[in-house]
Formats: sequence, structure tokens, C-alpha cells
Amino acid sequence: MAAIAQRTVTQAGVATKASRKEVVAVRAVAQPRQGSVAGAFTSSPSAVAARRSVVAKAAAAVEAPAKPVTKSSQYELFTLTTWLLKEEMKGTIDGELATVISSVALACKQISSLVNRAGISNLTGVAGNQNVQGEDQKKLDVVSNEVFKNCLASCGRTGIIASEEEDQPVAVEETYSGNYIVVFDPLDGSSNIDAGISVGSIFGIYEPSEECPLDAMDDPQKMMEQCVMNVCQPGSRLKCAGYCLYSSSTVLVITIGNGVFGFTMDPLIGEFVLTHPNVRIPEVGKIYSFNEGNYAMWDESVRAYMDSLKDPSKWGGKPYSARYIGSLVGDFHRTLLYGGIYGYPGDKKNKNGKLRLLYECAPMSFIAEQAGGLGSTGVERVLDVNPEKVHQRVPLFIGSKKEVEYLESFTKKH
Ligand code: AHG
Ligand code: MN
Ligand code: MN
Repeated sequence: MAAIAQRTVTQAGVATKASRKEVVAVRAVAQPRQGSVAGAFTSSPSAVAARRSVVAKAAAAVEAPAKPVTKSSQYELFTLTTWLLKEEMKGTIDGELATVISSVALACKQISSLVNRAGISNLTGVAGNQNVQGEDQKKLDVVSNEVFKNCLASCGRTGIIASEEEDQPVAVEETYSGNYIVVFDPLDGSSNIDAGISVGSIFGIYEPSEECPLDAMDDPQKMMEQCVMNVCQPGSRLKCAGYCLYSSSTVLVITIGNGVFGFTMDPLIGEFVLTHPNVRIPEVGKIYSFNEGNYAMWDESVRAYMDSLKDPSKWGGKPYSARYIGSLVGDFHRTLLYGGIYGYPGDKKNKNGKLRLLYECAPMSFIAEQAGGLGSTGVERVLDVNPEKVHQRVPLFIGSKKEVEYLESFTKKH
């Protein structure tokens, strides 16, 4: 962990744990360094202009119909790297974002291998600590978090990271340019790990907010508040979101705002190969994925909705089917491909449910929308929720457009 300064920013904007020395560490991150292409958090006029030009090109690219992927030879491979290069050429992303995405893909490859061998290399079971949310960390939660942090630090284009397994957002010391903010759940569904059942990683990438140019600030405390604000952006500002499923195959699904693309890892060459170009979620799908064990604690509107799905007379004699892995990545991936709805409602004990806005609900909702589906809290679009804190939870209903709208016809009444 030498490359990363810990406890450099706080959620409440108050430097509770940060000593004077640590404040200086944050300052070092926020000042341009010699030899860097642009200082950390820099929003110089040329950087802003370059970003605007990328955004303009991206808007044009989004309007253009997606071209089919054509191969000139049966041996031609269309890999994640090929895709990133083509998107960079089109102007959808810049080279810095492509570098960050590549480093996330590298982390996913490494985690895939660790998950695969967990039973052999003594990586099953608990680590013996709890994270800041009071959850018991599995050994693989801790290791996967390290893998993500190392990959993101060494790419040199990440400014701040926020992870399920970190108390606070963490500033990356060694950064050369870009300063993207990466939020992630390094290992999702980790309670499944010891049984060899599907797990995943989820990530989202933001640009530092241009309203808070940190390099212009002298007051260290103010700067920390701004660091936190930079992390806490609504999902509508995501530049990229994705997840990696570690299952019978390892599949990386990603969006940069012009559709959803899925890449399957070919273990023989160690590359992600494009297997799911331009994924579209079916508009309807008669599968629901909820932890129904919580039924008695749900709100009346969600219970009425659930009762209706199970009433054969409403659906031509065949009610909805239930499927629930208990791993958001696995359950969402099935929903994306087959259609249906995934839900984690609030309940009497936990008003906002269990799933975290920043690194679970927002990235998945960006993917769902880009595939033609929806992500809702039951009363509003997930991507419109303004985060107030890093580990904030929100109810989540996500999947096929018509299915989420049907759920909302119950939950929006109350
Ligand atoms: P994590 O392992 O990252 O803490 O996430 C677990 C989440 C999510 O993957 C899953 O959908 C949900 O918890 C399952 O919760 P229940 O066991 O309450 O159904
Ligand atoms: Mn999770
Ligand atoms: Mn997790």
C-alpha cells in the first residue's frame, strides 16, 4: 500500500483523523508536479477544451447508428483493447480514460484468477475484520480491494478512489494526469464465495467535478471537503460504468455512454474478447429476483406488487418465475440478458435497503439505461439521486423498462 495515502479525505468534510502531516499529503496530491502532463485535479483551459471536444465528438458518435463489428479474417480478434482504441479514435473517450479502463480490466483478470483458485490457495473464509459498514470482510474482499487499488494507482490516471472496503475516499499519490475518480465494489456477493457460486466486481468512473478546481485552493480543510464532493456525484455524471462476472466464464460488461458491450475472457490468451456487442435488455421479462425472505418487512406497496407477480390469473395462467443468487452482479447479468427485474427494496429495519448508491446502484443503473432498461429507487431515477455520503444506501429496482415501470405503478402511488 505504499503508493496510496490513506485517510486523506473525510466524508463529513472534517479532518477527524487527518494529522497535519496527512493534510500535507493531500496537498501534494492536489498540486501540479514537475514532469506530470497535468497536475492532479487540474482543470486547465486546454484540458477543459480537450474534454469538451471529446464530449462533442461523443455526442456525434452516440447519434450515429452502431456499426456491426466486421472481421477480415477468421483469426482476427476483437478484444477490449481493440474496442478501446476504436472508441478513442471516434472520440467517445480520451486516452486517459482508456488507460483507467484498461487498469480496471487488469484488476478483474487478477481477481478472476484469485476467485478461481480460492479453495486451493487458502483464500476462502473470513479475514477477521469488519468494514466501516459493519460487515464481516472475507479474505477475498480484502485481497480484491488491494488488487483494485494497486492497478488503479499504477496506471497513473486515477486521482481519488472510493471502495466498499475503505472507510473514506482515498487519494492516489502517484498520478500523472487525468485524475479520474473511480468508485468500486471489489468483490460483490462475497458471501457466495466459499460455495463456488458466481461473484463479481462493480465499478464507476467520474471526472473530477469542474465546479471544484482543487488546485486553486489554499485551505487544506476546504480542499478535503471538495475531495469528498468530487467523489459524491450523481450517477448521471458517470463517464463509464461496468461490472465483471466471475462465473462459468469471466465476463466484463461495460458502458461509456454509447450502448453496452460485453467481453468474455479467453483464458487461453488472457484477453477479454468482444462477445456481446450492443447489448439490449428485453423490454419485458417474466423473471423476478428479490430476497423474498424479507417480504414481511417490506412496505405494503412492494408486497402488493410481489403478490401480483405470483397471481396466475393476471398473467394468462403462468405467473412470474423467481431466480435469486444473492450476488447482484450475477442476478443483474441474467436480468440484462434474459429480461425481468431485480429488486432490493427498503424494509422496516433498513429504510434504504442494503445496496450502496455510489458503487453498486448507480453503475448498474447506468448500464441498465444504456441497454434500454431502467434503474429506479421506486420513486425516482437512481442516476438522479445526489449522494450525501460515500456508503449511502438506496432501494434498487432495475431491469426491463416495462417491468420497472410496472413496479413503480405500485410504489409511486404511496
Ligand atoms: P457485497 O458482497 O458486496 O457486500 O454485496 C452483497 C449484496 C449483493 O451482491 C446482493 O445482491 C445482496 O447483497 C444480497 O443480499 P441478501 O443476502 O440480503 O439477499
Ligand atoms: Mn456488493
Ligand atoms: Mn463487496
